[in-house]
Amino acid sequence: MTEAIITPPARRHDWAHLIQPEQVHGSIYTDPAIYQEELRKIWQRTWVYVGHTSEVPNPHDFVMKSIGPDPVLMTRDKDGQVHLLHNRCPHRGNQVCEKHRGNQKSFTCNYHGWNFGIDGSLRGYPFPSGYAQDQRKQLGLGKVARVGIYRGFVFGSMAEEGPTLEEHLGGAMQAIDNLCSNSPEGEVEVTSGFLQHKVLANWKFVMENETDGYHPAFVHASIFDVAESQIGSLYADTSSAVTRYFGNGHSEVDLRPEFRLRDQPLSWFGTAPEKLPDYVAKMNAAYGEAKARQIMVDGTPHIMIFPNLFIAEIQMFSIQPLSVGETVQHVTALQFKGAPDFNRRLRQQTMGSVGPAGFLLADDAEMYERSHRGVQEQKPEWVYLARGSHRERLDEQGYRIGHATDDLCSRGMWQHYRSLMEAV
Ligand code: FES
Ligand code: FE
Repeated sequence: MTEAIITPPARRHDWAHLIQPEQVHGSIYTDPAIYQEELRKIWQRTWVYVGHTSEVPNPHDFVMKSIGPDPVLMTRDKDGQVHLLHNRCPHRGNQVCEKHRGNQKSFTCNYHGWNFGIDGSLRGYPFPSGYAQDQRKQLGLGKVARVGIYRGFVFGSMAEEGPTLEEHLGGAMQAIDNLCSNSPEGEVEVTSGFLQHKVLANWKFVMENETDGYHPAFVHASIFDVAESQIGSLYADTSSAVTRYFGNGHSEVDLRPEFRLRDQPLSWFGTAPEKLPDYVAKMNAAYGEAKARQIMVDGTPHIMIFPNLFIAEIQMFSIQPLSVGETVQHVTALQFKGAPDFNRRLRQQTMGSVGPAGFLLADDAEMYERSHRGVQEQKPEWVYLARGSHRERLDEQGYRIGHATDDLCSRGMWQHYRSLMEAV
């Protein structure tokens, strides 16, 4: 007699219980079933940052990227169009590309030799007489359903329908615009290569930490002391910087109020105009002296674009979950088109802060892993997010803002997360 195999019904989560306005349940970081549901409802549905057009500048360029744990090929075809392709042969499922990046007109699957154009179309297969009909039109590489590009930042959504990229980004577009204005040519370039940092922690700990302005004074005290940097004051109890929630999960620590008090161009970067004369001359020529000065006083944004793009003043991170308890941060130095002297220093500072022997990211990584281990304890069950609730207010554009050290950004992320997870 054969035994019937009974599949238990999928567990339904009570999101209103797990995610409350000022606390979330610890299991939300560690439950493998929740992670699987996130893959479906977040990573395979919402807009996810994939890469930048400057990573595939020429026809037939390609680079291996990801959406969640899944690899995705970002390619540029002969007409200049950018494609996001799944790395899976439609024949027997082999991965068609093993290289990290390159330039070639086509991909050939190693298993049985099917050949695909850089746009994913199936161009041909060996021994075609084995197929009764020409199936090439039906059998290309899978494509990410929607591709959206804003100021060179390429996003993909695996959902055929949903909000447009512009609707998804909302107020975050302003921050990207501000970032690009730091280039005399108005463009960011992602050309300095990536470091990859893997941590044994859930991806949401990483995401929340990016706009947590409470921890730097403690976790990063050593680098602030050693480097005699002025960063510490930005995150002090007396700071005039603000946290801002843009909606749709996006948040920033807006440091401009502090930089405007200093009123010194390039102070945000720890330097002065005389140290970067070529850059300053080009900025003045591009924007006029008054506007260029304001841009150089304000500096670049510190923004977390849900769920995986973190622009951190001088570098950019892409967060990739590998499993419920493993996350990779891909990090690169931001580069500004037309600013070689500035770019060299951006690369050096990035190495000093998040490089293999960097001072900053190693400290954060230790915190992610300790948090992930800690929440596996059952008492207390909750993660507490009430800091600054009593002093939230609206800015002139109607976005919620709080003090630089408040939990406002996390509260916003969880609100959006819950709305995504409650969807069917
Ligand atoms: Fe790719 Fe057979 S699996 S050609
Ligand atoms: Fe940090």
